[in-house]
Amino acid sequence: MKISIINGPNLNLLGKRETGIYGNTSFESFLEQLKQKFSAIDFSYYQSNIEGELINEIQRVGYDVDGIVLNPAGFTHTSVAIGDAIAAIKAPVVEVHISNVHAREDFRKLSHISGKSAGSIFGLGLKGYELAIEYLLSAK
Ligand code: DQA
Repeated sequence: MKISIINGPNLNLLGKRETGIYGNTSFESFLEQLKQKFSAIDFSYYQSNIEGELINEIQRVGYDVDGIVLNPAGFTHTSVAIGDAIAAIKAPVVEVHISNVHAREDFRKLSHISGKSAGSIFGLGLKGYELAIEYLLSAK
């Protein structure tokens, strides 16, 4: 089982960035925990601050892996093109947000991703990535 985790802009700063909202854990250390917990899964991980690079990665893995866990971060609320890329590929996508986007500014309530995704998880912290993986495992 192959699962790709793709993180969008500023998520390279997890652990340092607005820790009251996003917590103190870096994604790299969390990924190590995920790999230990789900040792049978072949993970790939990609992060970019650049919209087109995220689209390239979604296209690259989208016909190969069994599922994608995607946190498009700020592009969630602006990127028609990332939504189109999700619609174009074969792999199911689970949209994850660490924070509860519906309890924040109004502009975060719009997602170009949710309608193209198998489902969305928000507000459960890094646990959301774990739940998304569990869903993809059960859906396989
Ligand atoms: C986020 C929520 C987005 O609104 C924000 O732009 C992010 C992170 C989250 O994981 O909570 O960068 O996707």
